[in-house]
Amino acid sequence: MALERTFSIVKPDATRRNLTGAVVAKLEEGGLRVFASKRIQMTKDQAEGFYAVHKERPFYGELVAFMTSGPVVVQVLEGENAIARNREIMGATNPEEAAEGTIRKLYAENIEANSVHGSDAPETAAEEIKYFFSDDEIVG
Ligand code: CMP
Repeated sequence: MALERTFSIVKPDATRRNLTGAVVAKLEEGGLRVFASKRIQMTKDQAEGFYAVHKERPFYGELVAFMTSGPVVVQVLEGENAIARNREIMGATNPEEAAEGTIRKLYAENIEANSVHGSDAPETAAEEIKYFFSDDEIVG
């Protein structure tokens, strides 16, 4: 497997509890490298667009409210098999189902405030990276 890039968000529940460094350390320990990173306050428009795929879900409104409730850290990560690797390090969406040692098992508050986001496929990774970063912000 060649080097791959994925998109990551440290969510507001984690930044609020001062866990940004702890989350990024888990990603780095897992073999991923941070190629871009910025701390931002997502606007409602940005969050609605980012999660548009979930528009019909009952939790969409709450999810947008949560993602705009405080700062987030958006990141580009690179590594071998980075998309799957990141998902392994994060653990299952629902922290109650997440494996021991994963970020969500360690830090997530619940299925919504689950500390991190990671792209689920190469197409979404490319789209999500483009949604928040220009090429010149990504430095390997
Ligand atoms: P994420 O990986 O960012 O992708 C969609 C997000 O929606 C997910 O993480 C959770 O934060 C949230 N989510 C998924 N399922 C539910 C649910 N059943 N109730 C509330 N939020 C959810």
